[in-house]
Amino acid sequence: MKYSISASQPANIKTDCLIVPVLAQGILTESGKQLDGSCNKQLSQLLRSGDLSESAGSTLVLHNPAGARSRRILLVRSGASENLDGKAFRKFIQASSKALDALAVGSAHLLVDSLDIKDRTGSWIVSQAVQELETCAYSYDRTKSKKSRKSGLKEIGFSLPADCSRAQANEAIKLGNAVSSGINIARELGNLPGNICTPTFLADECKKLASRYPAIKTQILGEKQMQRLGMGSLLSVSSGSAEEAKLIVMQYQGSTKSGSKPFALVGKGVTFDTGGISLKPGAAMDEMKFDMCGAASVVGVMNSIAQLKLPINVVGIIPSVENMPGSRATKPGDVVTSMSGKTIEILNTDAEGRLILCDALTYAERFKPRSVIDIATLTGAAVATFGNVVTALMANDQNLADELLDCGQQSLDPVWQLPLWDEYQPLLDSNFADLANIGGPRAGTITAACFLSRFSEKFKWAHLDIAGSAWNSGKEKGATGRPVALLMDYLRRQKA
Ligand code: BES
Ligand code: MN
Ligand code: ZN
Repeated sequence: MKYSISASQPANIKTDCLIVPVLAQGILTESGKQLDGSCNKQLSQLLRSGDLSESAGSTLVLHNPAGARSRRILLVRSGASENLDGKAFRKFIQASSKALDALAVGSAHLLVDSLDIKDRTGSWIVSQAVQELETCAYSYDRTKSKKSRKSGLKEIGFSLPADCSRAQANEAIKLGNAVSSGINIARELGNLPGNICTPTFLADECKKLASRYPAIKTQILGEKQMQRLGMGSLLSVSSGSAEEAKLIVMQYQGSTKSGSKPFALVGKGVTFDTGGISLKPGAAMDEMKFDMCGAASVVGVMNSIAQLKLPINVVGIIPSVENMPGSRATKPGDVVTSMSGKTIEILNTDAEGRLILCDALTYAERFKPRSVIDIATLTGAAVATFGNVVTALMANDQNLADELLDCGQQSLDPVWQLPLWDEYQPLLDSNFADLANIGGPRAGTITAACFLSRFSEKFKWAHLDIAGSAWNSGKEKGATGRPVALLMDYLRRQKA
């Protein structure tokens, strides 16, 4: 999609479809009122007729409006008037996108210059609009013989918000494009089936991505190399699978300062989680192809930071395995030695995510990272607690947690903190090893994080459990691309 910025009078905008937000009680924005004036009050008359439903997101088309150069005016109800917030704005863009799809137009223009959104700048409005329009345009069809119809929409314009310069608006368009491409990459990888998206496939995709950006170097470690590093915990998960485990290491160098330490992202890349010998029940097991969404989000973020040329260094570490109940599979009660030297009693082979992440976290130490964030579809308990609304956050550093909480608000990709308190640690005690890989039936999301915390003592660390937020189930089944937007917000705040 081609995006542009215009400071023209609303009535002078030449487009196939001029999108005009309607606030609650049928109120127009300042520029909407201006347009209404140029159009002999056609808009306010139409609004008084009651034809535009009062529910947020409803739309109404006016053809060949007199007094305006646009071929159509699309009224879109954007909900509450006084306190239009970020979330309501996102719904407004989603509704606009849906209506545009149905209209099959080639160009459109959004009259978003005089929208007053609580705590949001004009730049935010533009970048969020681009991000949302691009993610709305995504559809999965890699493994369908009939590809979905591509929209004919080629150009979208925005009216320049009052508090925003042209240069800022153009930067905002770039940002929205970069973040949405990361989100859509994460969704596509997540949606691919487990028979295609194996650890080897994921590694190849990362190589391909890196070859598009000279600032990214990718290194792939196979099982032999991981054995040499002593990653007995990670390897114990893949031992039941015919697919070789991979450790993918992507290094992005954006800082020109010598010796600038990187931010590390560690993404769980279980390309399919059967549960192993602690086999999962059959219902909805297909959704365990999404168990690599943490990894996919790291790939998406690496793409977006390279596209934006962020002036920092970032290392993405992706432990990738398939968790299968083969004849060499790990059995409950087996004890393995992690790269850190700590021994682990594997009481449940379905708690495999932490077993691959712990070795990846130990591996991260060598980069002397400024912070480490792991992203993992780690526990069913996180789904039970938060549904698909919010990502669970736990951290060993409250400043990092607070920053991520704020990034969640800013990016509309929210997180909520759970207590990572010492009182939970004894639940991992084992009679036969340094620690067990499960903490019993209670506080499942926290005990999983407690396990990871034992391998994160040497750096500032936060853990994001995206088991609920990474994909939708049911009719809308599919990967969401979360938390790419959150992580992008975090990384953009960091200084070189
Ligand atoms: N990948 C799953 C977590 C999961 C389950 C995510 C359902 C989304 C929906 C993870 O590997 C797992 O199986 N966790 C177990 C841990 C338990 C055995 C301690 C779980 O949550 O049941
Ligand atoms: Mn599992
Ligand atoms: Zn899993």
